[in-house]
Amino acid sequence: MPSFASDLLNWYDRHARRMPWRVMPRDRQAGAQADPYHVWLSEVMLQQTQVATVRDYFLDFASKWPAVEDLANALSEDVMKAWAGLGYYSRARNLKKCAEKVAFELDGKFPYSASGLQQLPGIGPYTAAAIAAIAFDEPVAVVDGNIERVISRCFRIETELPAAKPEIRDRTQALLDHRRPGDFAQAMMDLGATICTPKRPACALCPVSAHCEALKAGDQ
Ligand code: ADE
Repeated sequence: MPSFASDLLNWYDRHARRMPWRVMPRDRQAGAQADPYHVWLSEVMLQQTQVATVRDYFLDFASKWPAVEDLANALSEDVMKAWAGLGYYSRARNLKKCAEKVAFELDGKFPYSASGLQQLPGIGPYTAAAIAAIAFDEPVAVVDGNIERVISRCFRIETELPAAKPEIRDRTQALLDHRRPGDFAQAMMDLGATICTPKRPACALCPVSAHCEALKAGDQ
């Protein structure tokens, strides 16, 4: 039987959602690189806001401030104004601080490991892992709420959250594809958002249904 990762990635190659910050799998395999600035900006916006809302804000920021140096040199009040409506304004203040640190202290380059990224303002463990995987293909488990659900179902983990978190992380780490860590993380996000949904998962359409213990037990 093909592995979980290869079933998932074959599906992602055909069904990846288009997002303005995302390098589509075909382009990625042709050698295109994600822009770490774009990945960071989108992940910070996505921390507490849905994809549909983030799209327009992301496009506005990326056109106003095309590179991290531009954001670092922007007026704080202009950044806050552009952020208005996204809420959680400490995110915007940390965004500006982080841009300044990267632009003025790190030669414009984001650290390329999750542990390095986590030293920056506004970047916690989840966001650090997401950026490291998506922008730099670090083979690190990226586990958000959607992915917790996917993994809990696949392995029929009955432990409640948060106690189950370490097991879920280890399971995710063991499944990921070391040749395509960024695509694997984004494929898991897409699967959790579109197929392995909380209430009525679309198991008939699921690319990894053959690997799902919960489905096998009728307990998805
Ligand atoms: N949620 C958080 N990060 C995401 C991403 N890169 N793609 C889709 N949904 C996300």
